[in-house]
Amino acid sequence: MKKPDNHILVIFGASGDLTHRKLVPALADLHKQDLLPEKFAVLGLGRTPLTNEQFREKMSTGIQEFSSKKGDVPNGFLKRLYYYSFNTKEGAEYKGFKDYLLALDKEIGSGGNFIFYLATPPSMYPLIPRFLSEQGLSRDDKGFRRLIVEKPFGHDLASARQLNRELLNYFKEEQIYRIDHYLGKETVQNLLVTRFSNGIYEPLWNRNYIHHVEVTSTEDIGVGNRGGYYEESGALRDMVQNHLLLLTSLVAMEPPALINAESIRNEIVKVLQSLRPIPKEEVPRYVIRGQYIESEVKGQHVKGYRQEKGVDPKSRVETFVAMKFYIDNWRWAGVPFYIRTGKMLPTRVTEIVIHFQPTPHHLFADDPAIIRQQNQLVIRIQPDEGLLLKFGMKVPGAGFRVQDVNMDFHYSDLSDTYLPSAYERLLLDCMLGDPTLYSRGDAVEAAWNFIDPILQAWKEEPCIKVHGYPAGTWGPEEADELIEGDMTWRYPCKNLSDGNYCEL
Ligand code: BG6
Repeated sequence: MKKPDNHILVIFGASGDLTHRKLVPALADLHKQDLLPEKFAVLGLGRTPLTNEQFREKMSTGIQEFSSKKGDVPNGFLKRLYYYSFNTKEGAEYKGFKDYLLALDKEIGSGGNFIFYLATPPSMYPLIPRFLSEQGLSRDDKGFRRLIVEKPFGHDLASARQLNRELLNYFKEEQIYRIDHYLGKETVQNLLVTRFSNGIYEPLWNRNYIHHVEVTSTEDIGVGNRGGYYEESGALRDMVQNHLLLLTSLVAMEPPALINAESIRNEIVKVLQSLRPIPKEEVPRYVIRGQYIESEVKGQHVKGYRQEKGVDPKSRVETFVAMKFYIDNWRWAGVPFYIRTGKMLPTRVTEIVIHFQPTPHHLFADDPAIIRQQNQLVIRIQPDEGLLLKFGMKVPGAGFRVQDVNMDFHYSDLSDTYLPSAYERLLLDCMLGDPTLYSRGDAVEAAWNFIDPILQAWKEEPCIKVHGYPAGTWGPEEADELIEGDMTWRYPCKNLSDGNYCEL
C-alpha cells in the first residue's frame, strides 16, 4: 500500500475529547500497521500549557482505552507527538506558532507538508484558517497544505454558506476536507460495493421493485455530558442533516462513472438536490420529533433529557426524529424514504432496510387479506456488521405454508479481517490527498437546504408537538403512523438476524 508523503498533522483543540478518544488512537493504529510516513509528527495545539511529555502521557491513556488494535502503546509513536500552547483566538500569536512549526518541520524533515485539523468549537472554524492564511500557511506551492473541518458544518443553510465562503477566502476547495465520520465506516463504503459490484441488485434498485426504504440510526445512551452542545443542535442537526442524509444518498445515487472523488461526490450531490422539499405547513405530517423522558430501563432509573447536565429544564430540543420524504428523480419517483434517529432508544443500531414490492398476486396466503412480509434486504452498518436478506420458504409438510427465513452474512465471519475505525480511514485518505470520503461544499449546502424549512417550521410554530417518549423505548408512537398501511418500522436487535423487539 502506498504511504503518504512526509508531513506534520497539526491538531487545533488537542486537549479536547475528540483528539484523545478518536484522532490519536486512530493515528496510533495507523502507526501499528506501518501506514504512516517515515518523517511524520503530530503537533497538538491548545491553550492549556502542557509539555510534550505531559501531552504524550495523556494521549497514551486515550490510546490504551480507545484504539482498535489492542496491545502496548508503541513508544515509537508517542515520540512522534508534540505539543505547543498558545491562544488560537489571537491572530498576533500565530507568528510564534508558525516559527515553532517550521522549526519542527526542519528538525524532522517533513518537507513543508502540513495538515491542519480543526477539532475546536465551531466558532473557531472561520478564524483559524484566516490566521493561518495571514502567516502564509495555506499556500501550497512548496508543499501540501490541507484543512480538515469537523462537524457541525454550519447551523443552518445561511451559516453553512457563509462558512464555505469564508474558508474559500483562505483555502481552495481541493484543500478543504469536511468530515462526516459515517463515510469513514467500512460498512458504509460497502454500500457502494454491494450496489455496484453485484449484478443481482442493480436491476431491482428502483421504483419498479422497491416499495420503500428505511434508514435507522439509534443509540441506547443519552446526551451524557454534551447537554450544552445538544441544546444548540438537537437530533435533526446532529444526525439527520449529515449522517442520515449521507446514508440515503449512497442508497439512492446513480452508479458513478468512476471510483474517484469527483464522480462519487457528483452523484451524492445530485441525490441531495433531488430531495423533495417539505413545505413548512406540511412539516407536522412528515416529521415527528420527540424527547426522552425519565423511566426505568432494565430495573434502573434513567434520567429524562430535561434532567441532563447543561439542559434547560423546559427544553423543547428533539432527541428523536422520524421523517418521511421523497426523492424526485426517475429512479425513485413515488418511493417513500423513512428515516429515524434517536437517543435513549432500546439499542444502538444503524441499518438500511430495502423493502421490495410484494408479489402482485398472493398465491399462498390462506387468507388473502393476510399478506406475507415483503422481501427485505437489511444492510447493517453497526453493530454486527453485515447483510441480511429475508424471503419466504415453504414450511415442510402438507399444503403451502410460507415462512420468512433469513440469509445472512456477518463481517465477523471473516475472522482475520480487521475493520479499521472511521477516523483511521479518513485520516489516512486525507494524508494521501484523496477527498472521496469527505463532503464537498455544495453537498453540505444541499443537505441544509432540505433541512432548513423543518427547522424554520419548528421555530415559528411552537405548537408543533415535541412528543415525550420514555427512555428505553422506540420513540413516540406517532412515528409509526408515518409509515403507510399496516406496515411498521423494523425494530432491530443488536444481532442482525434476530427478530423484532428482542432488546425491550
Ligand atoms: C456524532 C453525533 O456525529 O455521531 C453524536 O454528534 C452521535 O451525537 C455520534 O452519538 C454517533 O456516531 P457513531 O459512530 O457512534 O454511530
